[in-house]
Amino acid sequence: MSVEDQGAPLGVRWGEHMSVGVAELDADHENIIIALNELVAAHDRHLGRDAIDALFGQLMQVVLSHFAREERAMADCDYDGLAYHASEHRRIHERLLEIQEHELHAEEATVRAEVREFLTNWLYGHVLVDDFAYRGCFNSQRDVVDEAIAAASAG
Ligand SMILES: [Fe+2]
Repeated sequence: MSVEDQGAPLGVRWGEHMSVGVAELDADHENIIIALNELVAAHDRHLGRDAIDALFGQLMQVVLSHFAREERAMADCDYDGLAYHASEHRRIHERLLEIQEHELHAEEATVRAEVREFLTNWLYGHVLVDDFAYRGCFNSQRDVVDEAIAAASAG
């Protein structure tokens, strides 16, 4: 099922304009966007706790495996933005844990709006700003990046 079929409640679908030039990382971003759209759609519809927890779990899984692949590739390429980018990953991970623990099932409209806003802003900030910064570095060292992603994906 494509994101388009799901109605993309965030109003965001992955497109070529988001490409960082590395197929595996583009696929990760598309999967993150799909997971975000599914989660937000379920959140908007006030689906049951179990359904929302399961979707949040899926989102966490795709996000954390993506962060691991990116960080390995950045380290192996000696990317000079690694420290900043990795600290942003930690910050996002902590915020997601906080949402999972305290806000995901809140009924207050303000909290629900904050959760939705974070997920949308983070997506734009992460993919279109932070990740775009490593494109030149990664694309000039494709062999190193491919090996790093394969190694990180193998665990
Ligand atoms: Fe990314």
